[in-house]
Amino acid sequence: MKRLGMGLVGPGFVGAHHIDAVRRLGFVDVVAVAASSAASARRKADALGVPKAYGSFEELVADPDIDVVHNTTPNYLHVPVILAALARGKHVISDKPLATTAADARLLLDAANKAGVVHAVTFNYRGNPLVQQAREMIAAGELGPVHFIHGAYLQDWLLETTDFSWRLEPEKGGASSAVGDIGSHWCDLVQHVTGRRIVEVLADLTTVIDTRLKPAASSEAFARSGDAARESVRIHSEDLATVLLRFDDGAKGSVSVGQVCAGHKNGLWFEVNGRQASIRWEQERQNELWIGRRNAANAVLAKDPSLLAPGARGYAHLPGGHQEGWADAFCNVMRDVYGVIAAGARPGAPHPPAFATFEDGYHSACVVDAILESHRQGAAWTRVGALTAAEAVR
Ligand SMILES: NC(=O)c1ccc[n+]([C@@H]2O[C@H](COP(=O)([O-])OP(=O)(O)OC[C@H]3O[C@@H](n4cnc5c(N)ncnc54)[C@H](O)[C@@H]3O)[C@@H](O)[C@H]2O)c1
Repeated sequence: MKRLGMGLVGPGFVGAHHIDAVRRLGFVDVVAVAASSAASARRKADALGVPKAYGSFEELVADPDIDVVHNTTPNYLHVPVILAALARGKHVISDKPLATTAADARLLLDAANKAGVVHAVTFNYRGNPLVQQAREMIAAGELGPVHFIHGAYLQDWLLETTDFSWRLEPEKGGASSAVGDIGSHWCDLVQHVTGRRIVEVLADLTTVIDTRLKPAASSEAFARSGDAARESVRIHSEDLATVLLRFDDGAKGSVSVGQVCAGHKNGLWFEVNGRQASIRWEQERQNELWIGRRNAANAVLAKDPSLLAPGARGYAHLPGGHQEGWADAFCNVMRDVYGVIAAGARPGAPHPPAFATFEDGYHSACVVDAILESHRQGAAWTRVGALTAAEAVR
């Protein structure tokens, strides 16, 4: 198999996991990282065992040894980094959210299609074997007609006034904080699993902590920033959200999203109720899938490749009883995306399920925009729009 060169822009919290995941594929060479300065890029490259370090993303995308550019920068840099990579004809794997507005996401989708390269967004929970099992079961009609899709994505790492992230600054994270950051994962996941699209939303957003003490030096996500000097800043974006959902086939739903919920570390869960059965998957117990029935005993399917549907089996790499985790699911996403790149497939060609494209990233941005708009309108039902290419021009 031809080896592929990978370069990563933004070697922070999640960037290290992109590097770890592609290394496990066996045919990808991690060529370079780019950070905000030459010195920090060199430091990160040395820590991650990466040969080349660049002080700007423009230099990285120009490197002829790089076939695939990974974007793991703070959200406000996604547009310039991705456009620069596409202009050089590189395949692009961007972390979520693809962009901070639907208009920007549309711009990136159109640019990627025009460049004719492979484009992907790391909605990494798709890579969990039992997520794929849930998807197979729903597609096979095992739940019967689905009427309710609900759940939550709760964390607590922004609970204290001294907790801070660029995600809370609209000019860096976007107008939405919790919804754009983690609500986007939940919405993509349930749409992926159920095969249904969110078409209308009614949202109530809250900023529980409206003043925070921002450290003078920035810190990575989930990191406590210690006793650094701080300034008091007003926060305008939401850290808590409740959203009612309507799906395209008439199914109803709801989701709670918050990053100020004590005890919840990465508490993503969803439940799907059909006329014959229910299923529930919890990220923090990701090796179990709950199956609920009315006229038979409920069951918990423990992840075991020999018990999974054929389409889900390939996402489990260890035998039953051997737990798989977040990083394994992340690697599954990379395996799906790099498999398509290695096969020389073009965008639009069929692709494996854990592979979310810029089209998915764009739809996700439309959902986030609709949630913000619903809240602005005083919690009014709001359609998830789709911008035309002309509307997307900045
Ligand atoms: N898929 C997931 O589960 C997941 C998890 C965390 C973050 N993310 C996403 O990944 C992205 C990064 O988040 P993070 O938590 O890793 O943030 P982070 O702050 O830990 O890392 C961002 C990195 O980008 C670097 N950077 C800043 N400006 C730069 C520039 N001009 N050029 C190059 N690099 C620059 C920073 O120095 C830092 O190393 C965000 O879009 C976030 O939404 C996704």
